[in-house]
Amino acid sequence: MEPESMAIPFGRLGNRRAATAARVAPALPICDAGSDAFRPRFQDPGVTASLQRAAIAMTIEPKAFRDAMSRFASAVHIVTTDGAAGRRGVTATAVLGVSDRPATLLVCLNAASAANERFGANGNFAVNVLAAERGESLARIFAGGDADPAERFAHGTWSAAATGAPLLADALVGFDCRLVEARRIATHHLLIGEVEAVHEGADAPPLLYHARGYRLL
Ligand SMILES: Cc1cc2nc3c(=O)[nH]c(=O)nc-3n(C[C@H](O)[C@H](O)[C@H](O)COP(=O)(O)O)c2cc1C
Repeated sequence: MEPESMAIPFGRLGNRRAATAARVAPALPICDAGSDAFRPRFQDPGVTASLQRAAIAMTIEPKAFRDAMSRFASAVHIVTTDGAAGRRGVTATAVLGVSDRPATLLVCLNAASAANERFGANGNFAVNVLAAERGESLARIFAGGDADPAERFAHGTWSAAATGAPLLADALVGFDCRLVEARRIATHHLLIGEVEAVHEGADAPPLLYHARGYRLL
């Protein structure tokens, strides 16, 4: 049976790159908190201290956690994908640089949005870092609300990167990524992408999000 640490429960990804990534950098020994496999590990006397701390953390109320997270000041991105499964773009702050060898990014997307499955199915994504100028209106459009998902890309100037993922002309920088691993952790999909190209834009101030509002530096 495939070890839990290598489970890829999202889209295709049975490819050689994913297997290589898993060998080179095995995923942390945690699994889907909702799965049956998760609970018995806490009864195991050999369970690690970090997993015990994770169990304690689960007693924190979701609202209290979201309130605490609102104190983070984050850059704002539009994460996009395109391919056989269709185009998708979503505003996201949960983006992190993981490694520079190979250049690797992590994006966390809510599994409650069925359209986010397209990222797994297409096997690509681009991270477009928003500028202060014009960034807020785009961020609002790609965060859903009243905007028709099919109409989102009518706003802004978009082109296809080498992987097929949409790149925003006005972005401070765009990272074109090949999806190499995906994992479901609690409510979210964690997408790990190997960066195939970096598209640098203007050297301008970024759009930020803090205390539930858009901010400028
Ligand atoms: C500032 C901001 C940051 C967000 N960050 C994320 C994120 O990191 N991951 C995520 O899945 N959704 C994030 N969202 C929510 C999505 O943009 C979007 O609202 C949600 O997926 C539902 O929209 P939908 O109509 O595209 O399904 C964020 C929204 C805002 C306004």
